[in-house]
Amino acid sequence: MSKINKKLIVANWKMHKTISIAKQFTDKFLATSKELLAQNKHDVVICPAFHLLDSVRKSFIGSSIYLGAQDCCSFSSDEGAFTGDVSAWMLRDIGCEYVIIGHSERRERYKEINDVIKNKILNAQQAGLKVILCIGETLEQREDGAYKEALSSMLEASLPKNILLDDLIVAYEPIWAIGTGRTANLEQIEEIHKFLSEICLTRFAKELKIIYGGSVNTDNASKILNINKVSGLLVGGASLDPEKFYNLIKIV
Ligand code: PGA
Repeated sequence: MSKINKKLIVANWKMHKTISIAKQFTDKFLATSKELLAQNKHDVVICPAFHLLDSVRKSFIGSSIYLGAQDCCSFSSDEGAFTGDVSAWMLRDIGCEYVIIGHSERRERYKEINDVIKNKILNAQQAGLKVILCIGETLEQREDGAYKEALSSMLEASLPKNILLDDLIVAYEPIWAIGTGRTANLEQIEEIHKFLSEICLTRFAKELKIIYGGSVNTDNASKILNINKVSGLLVGGASLDPEKFYNLIKIV
């Protein structure tokens, strides 16, 4: 399989699993997927909650799985008086290669504004992490037809100047499709990926990786990945169960 066709499959575990439950996952997942992972067909990234990063990293030593985090500090890339926060440098230190930034759950529930997201991206890139920047329209924006404008302005406002494009992945996640079981249909996904890739091409003179997220499962994963300009998947609920996640990777 040529490198160009290699897709990125990202598991976003959100705030799930204790250390022992994560261990059950990694044991089972590795036992079933050794051969599959050895084929190195796609890049697979697991993004557990902070308290699991070290144990998950250890479990995956010697496999092709990459480790990612779900967030990082916006104020400093290394350290400082920021109670409760974890810096991008600390994530690198623990073995992360990727970090998800600007997930809609953070934008909405934690009121993360685009300036905060910009700082997080800069800090992440300064620490050498690859950034998975999430953008997505609300149901209201989708229904009133203003979703393309909403997406392009969100993308524009989230990106800092001096961005390292090679280490940036955009995740299109329509908010109305996250955790709802309601996936965007193939035409909707194709329309947006084409639209975003044209914006990126115009703005950066470069194609960026754009992945899709929102109720991805074993039934729809392969169809979505076959859409033009879909470079990968961001998988929440369907990544929590080792068997389901194995099956998802197997079929794509
Ligand atoms: P979901 O979550 O697959 O459970 O919809 C995706 C995400 O929020 O990244």
